[in-house]
Amino acid sequence: MPTTRRYLMCEPRFFAVDYVINPWMDPTKPVSADVAVAQWTELRDTYRRLGHTVEEIDPQPGLPDMVFAANSGTVVDGRVLGSRFRAPQRTAEAEHFRRWFVEHGYRDITMPAKVNEAEGDFAWTGRLLLAGTGFRTDPAAHAEAQEVLGVPVVSLSLVDPRYYHLDTALFVLTEATDAGPAQIAYYPEAFSAGSRRVLARLFPDAVIATAADAECFGLNGVSDGRNVVLPLEATELAARLAARGYDPVHVDISELRKAGGGPKCCTLEIRK
Ligand code: ARG
Repeated sequence: MPTTRRYLMCEPRFFAVDYVINPWMDPTKPVSADVAVAQWTELRDTYRRLGHTVEEIDPQPGLPDMVFAANSGTVVDGRVLGSRFRAPQRTAEAEHFRRWFVEHGYRDITMPAKVNEAEGDFAWTGRLLLAGTGFRTDPAAHAEAQEVLGVPVVSLSLVDPRYYHLDTALFVLTEATDAGPAQIAYYPEAFSAGSRRVLARLFPDAVIATAADAECFGLNGVSDGRNVVLPLEATELAARLAARGYDPVHVDISELRKAGGGPKCCTLEIRK
């Protein structure tokens, strides 16, 4: 069953690719902020059409990656854990988001001491916080998240630089409830051997994605428990999800992919 969600997004008005902090970014390739805005608007309107609430934070000139709101906060039960970026080019984004939470009435806000790229590397399953490390978020930030949010954290190691954030390789389809366990989709090859075994133990029924689905950012999906927003190229994953009873909803995020992002990267979920 779908549940309504609340998302925070940032229009890519100042979108550009003028530095390289992941293997997808190539400043010699042309990018269009207008096309990015059009694709982003379609994503935002898709969420609204599905019944979700979308809040917006003002984009800032000079912060071309600010569209990737997922990197700026992890919110569980109304507790906000802010972010601390690894790349100096993105550092200033964290404070804009902290201020947004303050201005919107959040009082339980903690800014992390360790490098922490928020929902880029953290995925809430309803019971556990899955936490990625290897390229961005410091493993010490996992312990910090457990202490601040008061939820159990499971660390997972990423090994392929193309899948530098957890949310490029794994996403939650259905959160765990009293009615049943969480369901996830992931691309095993993005993880270390030990982390693959952990995932297989915790999620024996997971939807496994192909290399092609991972390459088009298919694992950067956003699910409300039934509707799954996916890049339109993620065709095999969509078929596997449909076979499990989910409704794939395709969006074109080709322009944002030039910065190494997809639907989930643009979407910070506010859980209360
Ligand atoms: N260019 C951005 C970076 O490398 C993309 C961030 C994508 N966000 C995400 N949640 N994976 O930091």
